[in-house]
Amino acid sequence: MTMLRSVVTGVGGYLPERVVTNDDLAKFVDTSDEWIVERTGIRQRHQVRDDQPVSDLAVEAAKKALAAAGRTPDEVDLIIVATTTADLTFPAVATIVQRKLGCPVGVAFDVQAVCSGFVYALSVADGFVARNRSKCALVIGAETMTRLMDWTDRGTCVLFGDGAGCVVLEPQEGQGTTADRGLLGFALRADGTKQELLYVDGGPSTNGQVGHLRMQGNQVFRHAVVNISEAIVSAAEDAGVEVASVDWFVPHQANLRILQGVAKRVGIDEHKVITTLDQHANTSAASIPLALDQGVRDGRVKPGQLLLLEAMGGGLTWGACVLRL
Ligand code: UT7
Repeated sequence: MTMLRSVVTGVGGYLPERVVTNDDLAKFVDTSDEWIVERTGIRQRHQVRDDQPVSDLAVEAAKKALAAAGRTPDEVDLIIVATTTADLTFPAVATIVQRKLGCPVGVAFDVQAVCSGFVYALSVADGFVARNRSKCALVIGAETMTRLMDWTDRGTCVLFGDGAGCVVLEPQEGQGTTADRGLLGFALRADGTKQELLYVDGGPSTNGQVGHLRMQGNQVFRHAVVNISEAIVSAAEDAGVEVASVDWFVPHQANLRILQGVAKRVGIDEHKVITTLDQHANTSAASIPLALDQGVRDGRVKPGQLLLLEAMGGGLTWGACVLRL
């Protein structure tokens, strides 16, 4: 029996030009390259210019993804941006991207699930594309996390970076089997009782400020491996595949020890893990599409392969997605 699938037809990424190394941070924060590398795996991060809004990053990633898909902005009928660092309180970044790219009138909105935003956004987009309500969708993860940093808090300011990644999704007929290309399975989770572990202490309807990111890192760490592993197993079940049959694990990049811990717990070979953490740090919702872009561009990740994506972040939110590229 044939069924419509949401297929990734193009991937693109964009990183701001400015690179900030751990040693650069150690000049004004009480930290060291040695501590950051050992505890997180991060060596450097990219940082936006003062005049660069997140929509500019998203637009650059979208242009590359469209080019990779052989599509043009006038074909785009749906834009979903996963972000926690919007240009403005409103309108949505997605509508700004639509205007800047020159896309026609269509559907455009943001998804706010912090670091899990890209996985959530893929699931939302699947509701349009696999029902033939979108012929060409952009799903973008874009963040300027460095704008949320308290640069006196060494427990958080060394962890994050800026960037954007994008995939183009298009409907294609499949056979309804796990051999189909497209989004095959999801598991999405949220637990609002854990808000105090990771949040930003500002907002339009509280103090009217942008605020700074606050995190009890070691508490978040404790939840990460267990929560993510459960979601991975559920997403694999939803897709009808074995976790061990995955070709590439493309995780959210928060901490190398989390990536390795999750891979070990669910039985994924360490050579199948795409890691960009050392170069990008944690770019929140942008980290998965940026890692996917890296894997595609360096030739490791190929069409037809089975991919496993996962993320966890503020909320707490977490989730996983299985797709065949
Ligand atoms: O994407 C959203 C999800 N976020 C995450 O998944 C983050 C999860 N958490 C983590 O990645 C880790 O918990 C961190 C990297 C944030 C921290 O590593 P940790 O091994 O959990 O360290 P800790 O917070 O328990 O702190 C250990 C020590 C403390 O010093 P004392 O109290 O033992 O003297 C901290 O003050 O490390 C100190 N410390 C630092 N030292 C040098 C914390 N940050 C730094 C730093 N440089 N940047």
